[in-house]
This record gives sequence, C-alpha cells and structure tokens, in this order.
Amino acid sequence: MTTLDFTVPDHWKWFTESRYGMFIHWGPYAQHARGEQILFREHLDQREYAEQAAAWNPQHFDPELWAATAVKAGFKYACFTTRHHDGYCMWDSAYTDYSSAKLAPQRDFVREYVDAFRKAGLRIGLYYSWIDWRLPAYFDGPAKDPEGWEKVRAYLHNQVKELLTNYGQIDHFFFDGVWPRNADELQSVELLEEMRRLQPGILVNNRLGYSSTHDEYRADGGVGAGDSDTLGDFGTPEHLIVADRKRLWESCQVTTWRLWSHVFGERWRPADYLLDMLCECAEKGGAHGGNLLLNCGPTADGELPPEFVERALDIGRWLEVHGEAIYGSDGGSITEFITRGRQTTRENFLYLIIRFWDGRPVMRLADLTSKVKSVTLLTTGQTLEFEQRDAELFITGLPAEAPSRLFPVIRVECEGKPEANQWGRERLWEGDPSRVAEWARSQRGTSVFADGIERG
Ligand code: GLC
Repeated sequence: MTTLDFTVPDHWKWFTESRYGMFIHWGPYAQHARGEQILFREHLDQREYAEQAAAWNPQHFDPELWAATAVKAGFKYACFTTRHHDGYCMWDSAYTDYSSAKLAPQRDFVREYVDAFRKAGLRIGLYYSWIDWRLPAYFDGPAKDPEGWEKVRAYLHNQVKELLTNYGQIDHFFFDGVWPRNADELQSVELLEEMRRLQPGILVNNRLGYSSTHDEYRADGGVGAGDSDTLGDFGTPEHLIVADRKRLWESCQVTTWRLWSHVFGERWRPADYLLDMLCECAEKGGAHGGNLLLNCGPTADGELPPEFVERALDIGRWLEVHGEAIYGSDGGSITEFITRGRQTTRENFLYLIIRFWDGRPVMRLADLTSKVKSVTLLTTGQTLEFEQRDAELFITGLPAEAPSRLFPVIRVECEGKPEANQWGRERLWEGDPSRVAEWARSQRGTSVFADGIERG
C-alpha cells in the first residue's frame, strides 16, 4: 500500500469516505452513438455536427431517476459533463448560445442534474474540457493568435467561474483536454485560486497542464498515472488503477469496452470486472484516495442504458452487504492474497475479498502476525471457526457453495491494526532476497536434487 506524503484535510475526507463516484458523459454526441469524440475521431463536418447538436432535444431525461439509480447503485458522488471537446454547453451560459438552454431543449441540464443529485444526498462534481474543437485560436495558441487566444482563455475562465457561482456547492471539478496548451497559457494556477475563492472546499483534478513557472510541474496533462506532479488536488489515472503518492487519486473507468458516451451495440464489461476495479482502488488507495469514477453514457434521449443499470445495481446490492470493506476503508494488501482475491482494512478489521470460491472448507492465510479475535463470513453473517498457528491462520467451516455470485467477503477481526511479517510485507520480486534463500535452505536444503541434499 502506498503511503501519502500529506494528511487529508477534513473538508476533503468526504472524498476518501465516498470511494465510488458516477461519471456521466452526456451531450449531443450521444445522437451519433459512437462515443463522445466522434466529431474529431471521424473527422465530421463541423457545420453539420453543429446543426445536429442544435436540434438535439432529449425527451426522456429524468434527473431524479438518474439520481435514485445512482444512490441504489452505491455511488456517493457524481461528475457530469458540462462541456466536452465539441464545445456544446449543457447549462445556461452567459457567454455563448451554443447551449442546451438557448437551443432546442431550452433546458439547463446542469441545473437539473445538480438539483436532483444534491437532493438525493450525492456530492456534486462537474466535468469541463479546456478543448473546444470549434475554436481555431485554442489550437493556434497565444504565439500564433494572441488576440484570438486571449478571447478563448477569457471564455474558458468565465465559464468555469459561472459554473462555480450559479449552481450552489460544487465538491469536485474534473478538467479534461489541455493538449496542446499548457498551464501557463491557460493560466490554470490563477483560475485555481479564483475557483477556491468561489468554492473553498472544492477538489480540482490534475488536468491543468504543465507549468514552467510553478515548481516545474511536468506536462502529462494529468492523464498520466503514478506520481504525476502536475497541478491539482487529485490524480486521474484513466483506464488505469495506479496509486499516486503525492495526492489523492481517482481512477476513471468505462463500463463498456472503451468509449465514454453512449455507443449503440457496444460490448459491456461484466459486473464482476467492474466490481474488481472498485476493490482494487480500495486495496491500493485507502485513507488517501483510491477512488473509482465509474462511467455511464446515457442515450441521446436521456435514458440510462439498461446494461449499465443492471451492472450498477448488481454492485449496489453487493455494497449494501459488503460496503464496510470499501467505503472509507484503508488500503489493504496486508499479505499476499492474489491467489484468492483482494484485501482491504479498516481499524482492526482485515477484509478478504474473494474473487473465486474454490469450495474447500478451509482457507489458509499466511504471514498475518496480528492476533485474531474473530472471523465472520460478511456475506451471510456466519461466524467462522479459525485456528492460528504462529503466522498461519486457518479459517474453517467454509460452505462448499459460493455464498454470493459476486465476491464473498471474510472479515477478520484482529487485536489492533492488522499486521504482517516480512514475507507478508515484501511481495514477490521485492524486498530482501536473503529471505528467499533462508526459506529454501531451511525447508529443503541447497542442492538441485529432490531431497535438496548436496552430492559429491
Ligand atoms: C479522455 C477522453 C475524453 C473523456 C476523458 C474522461 O480524456 O478524451 O473524451 O471525457 O478521457 O477522463
């Protein structure tokens, strides 16, 4: 488990407690039903795309139903695309008429999303892309078009400020895009300061670009993983789950094969795969992040795809029983457990999240040195017998049939925070190799022969 170089301030603890957010990619691009970037990826005619976007008029957008589904699915916050790379604004912006408020829908979808999700008790996130494929000056930049660039930069800043002024408390802000600009051109740091003035507790992600004037932040635009040292409060490994040691982090993932907004006929990832990503975020994260922002791409008409709802509610039912192993949990991976599943911890509890049930009555867990007080099959509430012999824990009386279709969880209560010995702490291909030599020597000898005894 990675340790973090700072303590999480109280006003951000909701984020680590939440663990699980719903990413919503919705806009006129859903009409094409081949992903949110179709304008660029399929090199469409800009004018034709804008005419179709202007005419887009969803008839079944029901934010209360979306919010109720999100709550039942176990999400604790959401992040809604206010403006994607195509430039279409999903709110009543004072700075353009290319919006759902001024065009066919005549609705402020951001307002409806914020009101419904906040009423349902979810924290509010907004996604906003720096890029706008309609604006040449964004790509010419300040060097080639200083006047045009300054107009675009002011437009971007003004839109972010109006989103943070007119819609109540915003808890989470997800910038996207950036390429080919950088933090100095975008004046990300200045905007960040303005954002914190408007929304003091807000969490802003790391897709603010590279700054050569602010502590040498490097140019990964934030999509990079691991210890990205770009600006911002949380890392955003995308289609990846990699812990960030310098700040909170949130892995954003799709529920389908690859694209973020609705795709007609697309393949879907199974519920157990999606749940395993949530468990992996909790295992690798803990008190300093390790959130999963799991995506939904509603249909052009405003409905949540049934395939998404089916998977999301499946995971929601699992979280109703096993949520204590995920929400607000600390990192896991106390011992080597990949041959069974994943581990998370919380105070004196170690949670064994079992990926596959092998039907054997006894489970052996090596290298846990903490004294065990009790063992429970969390899935059914059944108390399990156990025996501890030094650093070996034998859990017995396990049912032959898997207690749940998704991942059964065993909760081990320890005297004190769960701890492991050196073998448990230092994983395969890590740590001090002499422990491997000692293990082989003491248990079999040194020779290549079956009995380990040297000959000749
Ligand atoms: C990538 C995609 C963008 C999507 C984002 C989500 O940046 O370009 O379409 O919204 O990932 O993180």
